[in-house]
Amino acid sequence: MVCLYRDNAKMTQHVPVLRDDMVNAVMTDRDGAYLDATFGRGGHARALLRQLSPKASLVALDRDPDAYQAAVDLSREDSRVQPMRGVFSEIRSLLSSNRCNRLSGLMMDIGVSSPQLDDPARGFSFMRSGPLDMRMDPESGESAASWLNRVDLSDLVNVLRELGDEKNARAIAMSILDKRPLYTTHELVTAVDSSRSRRDPRKHSATRVFQAVRMHINDELSELNRGIEAGFHHLVDGGRIGVLTFHSIEHAIVRQKFRGLVRPVVPRRLPVRGTSLGRAKYVVKAKRPNPAEMNINPRSRSALLQVIERIE
Ligand SMILES: C[S@@+](CC[C@H](N)C(=O)[O-])C[C@H]1O[C@@H](n2cnc3c(N)ncnc32)[C@H](O)[C@@H]1O
Repeated sequence: MVCLYRDNAKMTQHVPVLRDDMVNAVMTDRDGAYLDATFGRGGHARALLRQLSPKASLVALDRDPDAYQAAVDLSREDSRVQPMRGVFSEIRSLLSSNRCNRLSGLMMDIGVSSPQLDDPARGFSFMRSGPLDMRMDPESGESAASWLNRVDLSDLVNVLRELGDEKNARAIAMSILDKRPLYTTHELVTAVDSSRSRRDPRKHSATRVFQAVRMHINDELSELNRGIEAGFHHLVDGGRIGVLTFHSIEHAIVRQKFRGLVRPVVPRRLPVRGTSLGRAKYVVKAKRPNPAEMNINPRSRSALLQVIERIE
């Protein structure tokens, strides 16, 4: 998810999280076909391409128009790269239409990128005022402003609790409803602050609210679930899927999904107990960045990498 980027005129510098761990775990065949489903600015993708042969290929997928443009730019320098714009839940149709049905590996680095966060016009940041948008693809779906200006109290409380783990969800939701209509990120921050709810001194008051609204607007948990299913479907025997997550709720979804593939639950009455029906094995069960990486890139502190390999 969030990685460290620094804007330098139009140049964006990027420090991908757990880059070598991800690439080394996912790369199994130098000549293979790979998918980076969260291309961003291509930090993981470039590291993978350096390890692949000229015969290999890499589909660079992202739903964000600027990330897609970055993938198009890279494809002009490297003919192994095929840029694609779309979402995880479309992976099966996108790959089939591109006649890329069998993958040796797939990388997913979940969440928003720093270029998205750092651009006030995208509406992801509570630090800079901008339109209250928060869509990773601003050309599709409903903006945060539109949703917040129509949602009812109980739905808003549920989103803030479930996706933001916000303990003051009810007070904050009531304040948001009271301050409507909201059009800017600054107005949302003001609504959160005027709820006068108890604060966590280590976090900005609006951190959890922005996270929850963003995850809801982009349907992130459902996308994660469907992306893992679609990606696993396309893996060759011995192919690997690596997922990097940054929130406990996402860690748990990946853990549960991977566990289900490694050790599926077998109904008691079936005569197959004792045999292995697993369709996958663990490659990396749970890897966190080391203290040196956390120091260089504080945003990597909550990262968790999980990788499985498909077995027949
Ligand atoms: C943390 S960034 C990836 C950074 C990238 N690994 C790099 O090294 O530059 C996550 C990217 O995934 C994209 N993304 C998030 N959810 C997506 C989805 N469901 N479908 C397609 N792209 C998605 C975002 O637009 C964002 O560009």
